[in-house]
Amino acid sequence: MLSVAEVEQPVAGAGEVLVRVRAASVNARDWHVMRGDPKIARWMDRSVFSRKGPANPVPGGDFAGTVEAVGEGVTDLAVGEEVFGEGNSGAFAEFVAVPRALLDRKPANLNFEQAAAVPLAGNTALTCLSHLGDSERVLIIGASGGVGTFAVQIARARHAEVTAVCSTRNVEAARALGAEHVFDYTRETITGRFDTVLDLAGTRPLRELLRLVEPTGTLVLSGGGNFDGGSWFGPVGLLARGQLARPFRRETQRRHRSTR
Ligand SMILES: NC(=O)c1ccc[n+]([C@@H]2O[C@H](COP(=O)([O-])OP(=O)(O)OC[C@H]3O[C@@H](n4cnc5c(N)ncnc54)[C@H](OP(=O)(O)O)[C@@H]3O)[C@@H](O)[C@H]2O)c1
Repeated sequence: MLSVAEVEQPVAGAGEVLVRVRAASVNARDWHVMRGDPKIARWMDRSVFSRKGPANPVPGGDFAGTVEAVGEGVTDLAVGEEVFGEGNSGAFAEFVAVPRALLDRKPANLNFEQAAAVPLAGNTALTCLSHLGDSERVLIIGASGGVGTFAVQIARARHAEVTAVCSTRNVEAARALGAEHVFDYTRETITGRFDTVLDLAGTRPLRELLRLVEPTGTLVLSGGGNFDGGSWFGPVGLLARGQLARPFRRETQRRHRSTR
């Protein structure tokens, strides 16, 4: 259960930076970590999960703020500098201490709220599309979500022809972000063949996704469906099936570092 409480102010250890949080964003990951869901995750990453709940009772990964103090060995950031980053937890508080490598200076053209919305979702999109060559045809299923809105813009910046998939209310937003074509999944069947298919919704069976990828194309899976929680495998199920199918397909299947 989420509640407001007084907690000890964290201290910047060696190699860490203490940040005064000005804005934090909420990602699907925070929901997973708070609920210890799916259950298999409790055994996968003990720095994030304990058997009984989150390893750190203060949730929150993404943040933007100002440097309050630096730990031993951090020499390239000064107190008062504006930064943003992605920690494991603790960002839904006034202060968070994170390793130096997990934050950077905030771009001057972003305010704190905008900067805090970037790290996890933006990094996920960037990682998912890191293989993109020039002028590929890219299908993004879940183009209107946290990761998808970054993915559409990254693909366009790489000169891809982007086809977005989202629901009716988001069709115009997907076009405004740069998608040339949009499938409204509530009314239409997705058709065609694409050089890259990025599936962020996880609601389609693997065989259906593979039909949408060119024989020499790339299928990228991130997340696994709109489940209500409480399952053992949750979003990991589709990713695991993708890995199991891998030796039997010519297509490349990528799995980015975060399946959360
Ligand atoms: N957010 C992160 O930082 C992050 C990081 C790593 C992994 N992930 C994983 O990546 C996945 C997407 O995360 P997100 O934060 O982008 O989620 P989100 O903001 O909830 O977006 C979900 C997207 O999927 C679309 N969608 C829902 N049902 C669909 C269906 N049946 N067919 C096609 N599209 C459908 C939604 O479209 P409408 O809203 O238009 O219905 C929306 O565009 C999740 O599985 C998450 O666990 C997220």
